[in-house]
Amino acid sequence: MGLSSIEAYDLVADEYDHFYSRPGHLLENAALIEILRGAGLLAVGKHILDLGCGTGSVIVPHADNQHYTGLDGSEGMLVLARRRFAAARFQRWRWGEDFPVSDGCMDVVLSIFGAFNYAADPLRAFEEVRRVLRAGGRFFLMITTAESEVLVANGLKVQRCAYEPLNLLQLIRKVEGLRATIIPFSARHYVLAGRKHD
Ligand SMILES: C[S@@+](CC[C@H](N)C(=O)[O-])C[C@H]1O[C@@H](n2cnc3c(N)ncnc32)[C@H](O)[C@@H]1O
Repeated sequence: MGLSSIEAYDLVADEYDHFYSRPGHLLENAALIEILRGAGLLAVGKHILDLGCGTGSVIVPHADNQHYTGLDGSEGMLVLARRRFAAARFQRWRWGEDFPVSDGCMDVVLSIFGAFNYAADPLRAFEEVRRVLRAGGRFFLMITTAESEVLVANGLKVQRCAYEPLNLLQLIRKVEGLRATIIPFSARHYVLAGRKHD
């Protein structure tokens, strides 16, 4: 049996940020931050929950660290995140578990660059998004189209879920109180962006 996704990220944690600092990735990161900023999702005072936050290096430098919570299954990734962003909160958590935050306390729920593809039960994840968002709160869930991913170290491969955007949109429509749309982001990524009704 292969490694679990969490074990795999633990193994590559120390190399992860270096690998994703290549020019193409930095351009994608900058484009993403522009979109999030333009939508007002990174404004000071916004309570942000980042699902599968990794080392936090994409979002946290641009977020209000006092109000940012990052969740991830890999302790290796979280150690680096905590070391770099001491004011932000990071917690170990796995897809399938409840998000470890109270009802209605978040302004924004994010998941970026493929982290959502490890959610084996997306409907449960959407229900949790609804629970933790305040009325009027927004979500921005980026999905990667590739079925499996080659990780940085030793050509390590790990399986993840391949999702069709329209299927996920149908699932979100089953969650009363959420509404969403699909935004293309790049050749490899699209975003399910939406809000919880006021
Ligand atoms: C492609 S990385 C993205 C990290 C971060 N969002 C970014 O853009 O830099 C995927 C993240 O999902 C986490 N992950 C993988 N499987 C997971 C699981 N079952 N539960 C929670 N986190 C998981 C990994 O540890 C990793 O940090």
